[in-house]
Amino acid sequence: MRKIVLTGASGGLGLVIAQNLLNEGYFVHLIGNKNTSKLQLIHSKFLATSKVYSVDFSKTSDFTELVNEIGQIDGLVHTLGVSSADMSWKITSEEWNRVMHLNLTVPFQLTQAFTPQLRANKFGRIIFFSSIVAQKGFIGTSAYATSKSALIGLTRTLAVELINSGITVNCIAPGYMDKGMIEEVTDEYLKEILGLIPSKKLGDSTNIAHTVSYLLNEKASYINGQVLNVNGGLN
Ligand SMILES: NC(=O)c1ccc[n+]([C@@H]2O[C@H](COP(=O)([O-])OP(=O)(O)OC[C@H]3O[C@@H](n4cnc5c(N)ncnc54)[C@H](OP(=O)(O)O)[C@@H]3O)[C@@H](O)[C@H]2O)c1
Repeated sequence: MRKIVLTGASGGLGLVIAQNLLNEGYFVHLIGNKNTSKLQLIHSKFLATSKVYSVDFSKTSDFTELVNEIGQIDGLVHTLGVSSADMSWKITSEEWNRVMHLNLTVPFQLTQAFTPQLRANKFGRIIFFSSIVAQKGFIGTSAYATSKSALIGLTRTLAVELINSGITVNCIAPGYMDKGMIEEVTDEYLKEILGLIPSKKLGDSTNIAHTVSYLLNEKASYINGQVLNVNGGLN
């Protein structure tokens, strides 16, 4: 049975991904922070194939204990992410650093911590989460967009460094989906966003869950270093 670490598992997209992976027969290490009660509900239905962790990554940069507790895995899905909205000329260095730490440094360092065992095992699947916001210019998103763009560079670099160890590294860039961060936007901004999307609809989040499964599959061994846009044509 393939074992996967899923960060951000308690978020809007994370919950959909978690449910789908468990239905497909993966063992999933479900990592959340404040909302792990949602994960306990899923765990109660998949007692033998899931484990729940509550970790505040803003307070952690040493992953040794967590990696030892989790043990051998086959893949990492970095759904963890925080949004941030402010004009570039107003954003504080504290907020900038918070966003870079959680959106970029933590996914990188967690990947680093698991890399030796994936390399030794000659198999691995690593999936980062970027965003449409990294690919277009949206007002008030400088920190978020920068962190999510950097993940694309990280994806391409790790992809070429790790492929000879049987590890693929890819990135999913969602557009505006119907779960998660979208719940934080105002009605006015939502209307604006819908106006930009060709179908005028938010994306069904199961699209993201199926893309994760597709990339994790052993048959996806030649898909490497890619950014998969799941955005309904909002390019
Ligand atoms: N939803 C979209 O439309 C969309 C679009 C583009 C890109 N994305 C990207 O897709 C990913 C998932 O998005 P989402 O909408 O599901 O986000 P979300 O609902 O806001 O969930 C965020 C997740 O990150 C976790 N998290 C936040 N701060 C944390 C911390 N300090 N330590 C540990 N975990 C922490 C949250 O845990 P708790 O809730 O337990 O605290 C939650 O599980 C993100 O990387 C996001 O940037 C989403």
